[in-house]
Amino acid sequence: MRLRSGTRQKADDRPEAPAATPGLAVELRGVRRRYGRGPGAVHALAGVDLALPRGTFTAVMGPSGSGKSTFLQCAAGLDQPSAGSVYLGGTEITGMSENRLTELRRSRLGFVFQAFNLLPSLTVEQNVLLPLRLAGQRQDRRRAAEVLARVGLADKARRRPGELSGGQQQRVAVARALVTGPDVIFADEPTGALDTGTAAEVLGLLRHAVDTPTGSGPQAGGGYAHGATVVMVTHDPAAAAWADQVLFLADGTFAGGLERGSAEQIAARMATLTARTGAMAGAAA
Ligand SMILES: Nc1ncnc2c1ncn2[C@@H]1O[C@H](COP(=O)(O)OP(=O)(O)OP(=O)(O)O)[C@@H](O)[C@H]1O
Ligand SMILES: [Mg+2]
Repeated sequence: MRLRSGTRQKADDRPEAPAATPGLAVELRGVRRRYGRGPGAVHALAGVDLALPRGTFTAVMGPSGSGKSTFLQCAAGLDQPSAGSVYLGGTEITGMSENRLTELRRSRLGFVFQAFNLLPSLTVEQNVLLPLRLAGQRQDRRRAAEVLARVGLADKARRRPGELSGGQQQRVAVARALVTGPDVIFADEPTGALDTGTAAEVLGLLRHAVDTPTGSGPQAGGGYAHGATVVMVTHDPAAAAWADQVLFLADGTFAGGLERGSAEQIAARMATLTARTGAMAGAAA
């Protein structure tokens, strides 16, 4: 039943300032991203609304060209939407200066990409410490050892990325993403270049980051009451099955979702969506 509150007056006539919703790690409101102008313009994101609570793991799927990478770039402050607002942990990042954005990305966000993006001339330990170095923080070698142990690579600290397997390199990338104790980890096809077994190891690490309260937060004991929030783009239904929810993008908008699902259920939903939009199934094509 709806309650009417016709007699309530607003305190003043100013337009309501758009405030972030408490408890959300990531919030997008009416986000659009257009490439180009006129009849040839591409509407990569055509109005995205999204609210992700802290400590959740979300997979984003969709046909090739549906806007997944564009969505992730806008949500992570790596790209500016043409319209709409993005909030990270209660802070609006749309319209933020590039300096403040860079600082926020370095201190509060972690990134994992399909191509690992490690620096080949640095050791594994130096790669892991890079976000701290870039943020001008103390390069805490104990912290590096801790996150490397967490990803099972305690004995590889002095190696260079080229001496490691693909799966090991991606685990280094996960360690690097975890080193600052970030609020949100954005991952774009983190298992795209890995075989099934190695992919499962990397996904288990992301799952663990979500399920484990972090150690560098603002609480009394120096931790967060919740784990990290993970947003992962993937083509692989088996990877998406590790998430708490799966969202489907089609033609630049969220076409719906699924709260946890088996790889088979997720694959079936993707097949329906792909047939409906008439798009190609991306990497699977
Ligand atoms: N820099 C750009 N300039 C022009 N168009 C772009 C640019 N980047 C992306 N697009 C277009 O925007 C749409 C969405 O692209 P996006 O990369 O987000 O898709 P995606 O879902 O990540 O695809 P894939 O699964 O193939 O990685 C596509 O039509 C793409 O061609
Ligand atoms: Mg992409």
